[in-house]
Amino acid sequence: MNDTPIKDIVKERYAAAAFRAKSGGSACCGGASAIAGARDPITSNLYGADETLGLPSAAVSASLGCGNPSALAELHEGETVLDLGSGGGIDVLLSSRRVGPAGRVYGLDMTDEMLALARENQRIAKVTNVEFLKGELESVPLPDESVDVIISNCVVNLSADKDRALAEAFRVLKPGGRFAVSDVVVRGEVPADVRRNVELWIGCLAGAMEEKEFEERLKRAGFADVSITPTRIYDVEDARDFLAAAGIDADALAPQVEGKFMSAFVRARKEA
Ligand SMILES: C[S@@+](CC[C@H](N)C(=O)[O-])C[C@H]1O[C@@H](n2cnc3c(N)ncnc32)[C@H](O)[C@@H]1O
Repeated sequence: MNDTPIKDIVKERYAAAAFRAKSGGSACCGGASAIAGARDPITSNLYGADETLGLPSAAVSASLGCGNPSALAELHEGETVLDLGSGGGIDVLLSSRRVGPAGRVYGLDMTDEMLALARENQRIAKVTNVEFLKGELESVPLPDESVDVIISNCVVNLSADKDRALAEAFRVLKPGGRFAVSDVVVRGEVPADVRRNVELWIGCLAGAMEEKEFEERLKRAGFADVSITPTRIYDVEDARDFLAAAGIDADALAPQVEGKFMSAFVRARKEA
């Protein structure tokens, strides 16, 4: 890591990803090559064709997630949903269909270019039960107990202050509210060279929490009924791609990270 705060580097890189998506390029999570526009195993094939049908193409091409949280969260008509790190808005738009006209969906993002892209996608999709807010996971601009469900897609790993982000998620949830988040999670230990690599942080890997650590932090923030379910586990070839893209000695380290990075669906509840 260098001296520039990681948050500034994250903003700069995701601003560039928004620009690429807007100009028709693809974007994806998972390392430097991914950020430069190549497809990768983390971001590809997350949504069914029936789900993306009718969504603005820039919302689909800006998809930078690692799961499909609005499908897994089991949203209901009339609920209020908050998407942490909403990017180009794909999960906000999908959630807006699920909660219907009586529901409301907030997308929160700190990167101006992503917010502009998401608002443009909202305009094209002619969706009115949605609002994109500028702000950070660590300081959510919503009142206490105002949200039924928190979703997020591959963003908690990017936060430099995860305890603060989880405390904010807990604060804005109503009693009985659900935390239903897709994220990259680590199983076991990964080498320090991987943890220290900025490109791998931007690519949603280096900042990913170990699964037990994630559970502990959620409980410390006040959550109950915590569970972490793998949705994809990355094999040695995937690891080789991530590492090579980040300029790391892939031959040496890929076997050490094989099977340790996974995309997972993380659930928890704020007790009523
Ligand atoms: C990997 S992308 C995921 C975007 C979106 N969830 C998706 O699935 O396409 C990460 C997004 O989170 C935003 N982000 C990262 N860290 C953030 C933070 N601490 N607070 C608010 N937004 C953040 C970035 O600007 C970017 O739009």
